[in-house]
Amino acid sequence: MTKLAFVLGSNWLLSIAELLVYIQDRGFEGNLVDHTRNAAIVEIKQKLDNDQIVDMQSALGGCYKIGKVIWEYEIDIPLRAYPAKKTAHKESLAEIRKCPWLKIIWPRVKGKKIKFGISTYPIIDGSFPVNFRRFSRAMSDEVKKLLLENGARRADYYIYDEPDRRVKGRLNIALWPKSIARNSLLTPPNAEILAIFSETRLYFARTSVVYDSMLQQYRDESRPFISAEISTSPKICRTLLTLAGARPGDTVLDPFCGTGTLLMEAAILGMKCIGVDIDGNQVQGARSNMKWLANDLGEKLEYNILIGDAKGLSSLIKKRVDAVAFEPILGPIYKKTPPQEEAEEIINELTALYCSVLKQISKILRPEGRVAMTIPVIRTDSGDISVKFSDLTRDTGFTLYRMLSSDSIKSRKEIDPRLKIRPERELIPERKRGQLVQRALIVLEK
Ligand SMILES: C[S@@+](CC[C@H](N)C(=O)[O-])C[C@H]1O[C@@H](n2cnc3c(N)ncnc32)[C@H](O)[C@@H]1O
Repeated sequence: MTKLAFVLGSNWLLSIAELLVYIQDRGFEGNLVDHTRNAAIVEIKQKLDNDQIVDMQSALGGCYKIGKVIWEYEIDIPLRAYPAKKTAHKESLAEIRKCPWLKIIWPRVKGKKIKFGISTYPIIDGSFPVNFRRFSRAMSDEVKKLLLENGARRADYYIYDEPDRRVKGRLNIALWPKSIARNSLLTPPNAEILAIFSETRLYFARTSVVYDSMLQQYRDESRPFISAEISTSPKICRTLLTLAGARPGDTVLDPFCGTGTLLMEAAILGMKCIGVDIDGNQVQGARSNMKWLANDLGEKLEYNILIGDAKGLSSLIKKRVDAVAFEPILGPIYKKTPPQEEAEEIINELTALYCSVLKQISKILRPEGRVAMTIPVIRTDSGDISVKFSDLTRDTGFTLYRMLSSDSIKSRKEIDPRLKIRPERELIPERKRGQLVQRALIVLEK
């Protein structure tokens, strides 16, 4: 059995959905046993090797780090050892000090120069009654002392202790993947340790792999054709691919491919891709991006990008595809809240377009294949207006695929209401701050 800790992306629910779908699709017997706003703890029956964990990290768009859980405590211990307000409880402090770091991470330290970091992940934000900052600092000092006392030539730790760049005001005492790479913290004897607080436990995990943010940034910025206005983020593209059940070797279709971000991500993951777009400029751009990627990877990539209307897909594509993933047009970009009638009209038009494209997709998609797509949610003064999933499954040849399978969710039921997971959920919102047209993700199955 392997117990893994996943550091989640900013949309924790979507990250968990993606993770559960991946585990199920790849035939792992796994359960979500605990989760927080920042992390998920998953128990997998099989023993996983490092390559499998690396594959997981590259497939999952909503995952920043994966580590193996090495030790855990009932939450009372850290609560008493590092309380936010009261004074520390001596026995609990002594209990935490008993964590056998040397045995589990550093069996041989004599004469070694060791760099490490402890990344702390609170449950939701900093409001839990633990002094997370003091905890991180004290744990790092403890481990450093232990390493030096046991003969390490040097022991240096890295700590990041600033408000979260993504959500200001939220505490962040975790190292960014960039600093982990820069300081080679994943190369033994160096190590990054994840300290994950949930409502009931504190988990220590040793990081096996992190998201390669530098490589992603390089690809984003260096590809020849960029269109910030329409491009979908590469991370969401990976999530869509996982939700659609796409695997290396599969043929994947993006019928609204735009600049080709999803096709590029699919190709990096070893998939063959077909892209379609109605706009010739986008098609040219997507082709040049794929050419650039093939050159950059030094590999021949299998892809075909066509100009055409997605409403006529089945006459454009004669091949059977294994998975379909896309971000379609989502309607106008609003500067101020549109009236309800206008939003309804737009949503009706888009629903008609999506249904017609889905009917076409059902002709070329393999049996039981899946479609993962985003849909718009338009904010109006009278509430949010969106495409109804029931419309997308009426006469299109698709049924709704539920991403959050209740069979694999074994987290406690009496959890903070903000962390509740409703397995019956049809779609998962993906919000962009300050925008009037938000998105949601939906998955359909043939
Ligand atoms: C949101 S963008 C897709 C962005 C893309 N994922 C990327 O990263 O660049 C939607 C794309 O759908 C295309 N489009 C709009 N209507 C279409 C249709 N009927 N058939 C095919 N493509 C269409 C647009 O030209 C646009 O490039």
